[in-house]
Amino acid sequence: MRALLLWMARNRWLREHLPRLWFAKRAVRRFMPGEDLESAITAAVGFQVEGLATLFTHLGENLEAIGDADEVAAHYDRVLDEIATRKLDGEVSVKLTQLGYDLDVDRTLEHCRELAGRAAADGKMFWIDMEGSAYTEGTVAFYERLKATHPNTGLCLQAYLRRTAADIQRLLPLDPAIRLVKGAYAETAAVAYQSRHDVDANYLALSVAMLEAMRAGTKVRIGLGTHDIGLIDQVAQHATALGLPKTSFEVQMLYGIRMDQQRRLAREGFLVRDLIAYGEAWYPWYMRRLAERPANVLFALRQVIG
Ligand code: FDA
Repeated sequence: MRALLLWMARNRWLREHLPRLWFAKRAVRRFMPGEDLESAITAAVGFQVEGLATLFTHLGENLEAIGDADEVAAHYDRVLDEIATRKLDGEVSVKLTQLGYDLDVDRTLEHCRELAGRAAADGKMFWIDMEGSAYTEGTVAFYERLKATHPNTGLCLQAYLRRTAADIQRLLPLDPAIRLVKGAYAETAAVAYQSRHDVDANYLALSVAMLEAMRAGTKVRIGLGTHDIGLIDQVAQHATALGLPKTSFEVQMLYGIRMDQQRRLAREGFLVRDLIAYGEAWYPWYMRRLAERPANVLFALRQVIG
């Protein structure tokens, strides 16, 4: 089921046709407050009252023409404006391919530098998502270049990849911000752990390695990008054992998933940030959400029935 859904996520014909269907539009609302920025901002204003910070992602992936990246960058600039105007504890997270990485890496870097500079002026972090493994080395190297000029930048790393332990050691000397996720793409056994058990074990080991580095004096901002409450509990226990406070890491979850837990953790004094994704190009992103949990497919099918 996971493999089929991830194949559907990449299929060009389905990408063009499926999102036009009314029931698909209705089903995606579970994970998205709306397609426009205003819906995302309105949701964030509500979350802020409940003690949840936010992370904004405008959905979209690989571009056809580099000029389109200018529009994407201009959009994120507007998001940063809105965050400042509404006094939100909000940050943005971008995909490099959406900013033209496949077509012109240096121009993508220019865009990221401008956006990160803008975010820094408001005291905010600027995040980079991680895409499929064909992009991992390039994205880590890109982050090293960006971090050299813009310290307020963070990178997502994936615990299912065998290389991530080495990537964390490579980045720790830079005082990085790292959002650790399990990983959402279809990857082969050559590059990625395949069983849930191995991915979870690696997730915990990587989180503990970052906490230990923090304990030893490294400045690392840790984002646990997971809905796995059991894992978050285990990381929290390790933090306590190391004498670190609850606020030594931030929990980051997606809009619409485990909202009860997001609110509970915030009430208990953990730092919690809800990632709100929005935009018209939601199809591949939505299919990855379905692939994460087969029960979501039943939920989506119920939208067709009524
Ligand atoms: P796991 O899949 O084990 O789920 C744990 C529990 O959470 C499930 O039992 C279920 O209750 C709930 N749950 C999880 N996913 C659900 C879903 N889709 N619907 C309903 N319930 C669900 N990936 C990537 O490759 N690159 C990236 O840049 C990012 N960025 C990112 C940011 C943030 C803030 C988050 C939370 C996640 C990402 N991801 C990502 C996605 C990530 O790689 C992973 O696919 C999902 O988080 C699902 O894995 P969990 O860690 O939640 O664990």
